[in-house]
Amino acid sequence: MTKAKTTANLNQVLLNPACRVGADFDAWMGYVGGQGLEKALEDPAAVIQMAKEADLRGLGGSGFPTWFKWNAIANQDAYRDVGEGRERGAVSLAERDKYLICNGNEDEPGTFKDRVLMKECPHQLIEGATITAVACGINKIVFYINPHLTACIEAMGRAVEQWQASRWPSRVAEKTGLKIEYCVKPSSGHYIGGEETAAIESVEGKFPFPRGKPPYPSDFGVHGYPTLINNMETLSNVPHLVRNGVEWFRNLGIGNATGTKIYCLSGDVLRPGVFELPMGTPLNELVNNHGGGLLVGKKLKAVFTGGPSNTILTPKDIDVPMDFESVAARRSALGTGAMIVVSQGTGIVKKVAEYISFFAASSCGQCPSCKTGTYYMSLLLNRIGTGQGTRADLDSLINLCKILPGSGRCHLINGAVKVLDSSLYHFMNEYEQSLLKVEG
Ligand SMILES: Cc1cc2nc3c(=O)[nH]c(=O)nc-3n(C[C@H](O)[C@H](O)[C@H](O)COP(=O)(O)O)c2cc1C
Ligand code: SF4
Repeated sequence: MTKAKTTANLNQVLLNPACRVGADFDAWMGYVGGQGLEKALEDPAAVIQMAKEADLRGLGGSGFPTWFKWNAIANQDAYRDVGEGRERGAVSLAERDKYLICNGNEDEPGTFKDRVLMKECPHQLIEGATITAVACGINKIVFYINPHLTACIEAMGRAVEQWQASRWPSRVAEKTGLKIEYCVKPSSGHYIGGEETAAIESVEGKFPFPRGKPPYPSDFGVHGYPTLINNMETLSNVPHLVRNGVEWFRNLGIGNATGTKIYCLSGDVLRPGVFELPMGTPLNELVNNHGGGLLVGKKLKAVFTGGPSNTILTPKDIDVPMDFESVAARRSALGTGAMIVVSQGTGIVKKVAEYISFFAASSCGQCPSCKTGTYYMSLLLNRIGTGQGTRADLDSLINLCKILPGSGRCHLINGAVKVLDSSLYHFMNEYEQSLLKVEG
């Protein structure tokens, strides 16, 4: 009975079994392959408007409106490197480069959805990236993939070869003048390499140090050319949206939310995994129906929403619809859609200490506030978590939460502070009790 209900609630657009054919070009074409692209070729400009009306969001964590970034790239005059500088101008189509980096770095604990899309649905992704390129006038597509995900690199590599040998590249060139080049590029394997400007550096062959902004990637990206960065899940939606239309896409979501979301459920649940559900599915339904509930004998204590760089929800918010606005209204954030379930008996201070150690180890070290701030937060948390912390240590943690946000070049430092701040807000008692062991 439970299984039937669970299956009925799965949307299965991106993770529909018919899409999960691996690097099998004919199987994808035999399903819906090429239909979205053919429609996009008829009217490339309409694709951006569709993304706007459908309210397609960036699913790499930010929830930023996708059409807005696309529009910035589509309207971007091309740049050409001229020695040290660059020159804006009327360059011919052949000289004009624009890049799309398809972000498959996926290295944050608790997020494991993009690897399924890359390994099992590579043609869906290639078609989504190609439609995006057609809409924005992009001629270089880079599939940027975490090197530890070897099966994804292999599947994407084979699928790209099949795509290049198909009729599509010449069809696209004939209709738009774009000669699109595809490449699969393993990232350096650092978590920070997933940040958009770090990805640009990496694609240029350098260490993934995030860049200061402005200039923004849409203005000055890979080798100075306009560059769009999108998450693999965002791009995988595109063939379906263009093929089926705005109304169809909007109707997939619940309430005001649109489309589907691939939620990554992990932690103390019976059935962890990836679940593609309507955007706006209540957290309760994910945990209890799809995830089978908590491990036997365990009770819910908290859910780290959107992964460790985000915030915490407590049992009173278990009914929250998991879409960007609804989760934000509860002082939290949807992020990548990772939901890490923690049961009673798990020490929050130790859990947060674990995550902050990850950020301290992942800081690229360019910004003193991030390098020392994450190290110091980690040190204080470990001290408090092991019963050796003082009131002054706790006060220092609280102060760091006030002074660190916005002090770095990228969002890594903000993410680290966010989870700590949220844990202090919801579980101050636990912090205080940890202190009492030494002070009482
Ligand atoms: C430290 C850090 C790591 C990130 N890692 C990833 C990643 O692995 N994959 C991803 O898509 N976005 C990642 N992002 C977000 C990207 O900077 C960027 O917002 C995203 O790729 C844009 O795609 P979207 O608009 O389709 O979401 C990361 C951001 C930060 C600050
Ligand atoms: S905030 Fe941290 S990770 Fe980001 S650029 Fe600065 S030092 Fe590097």
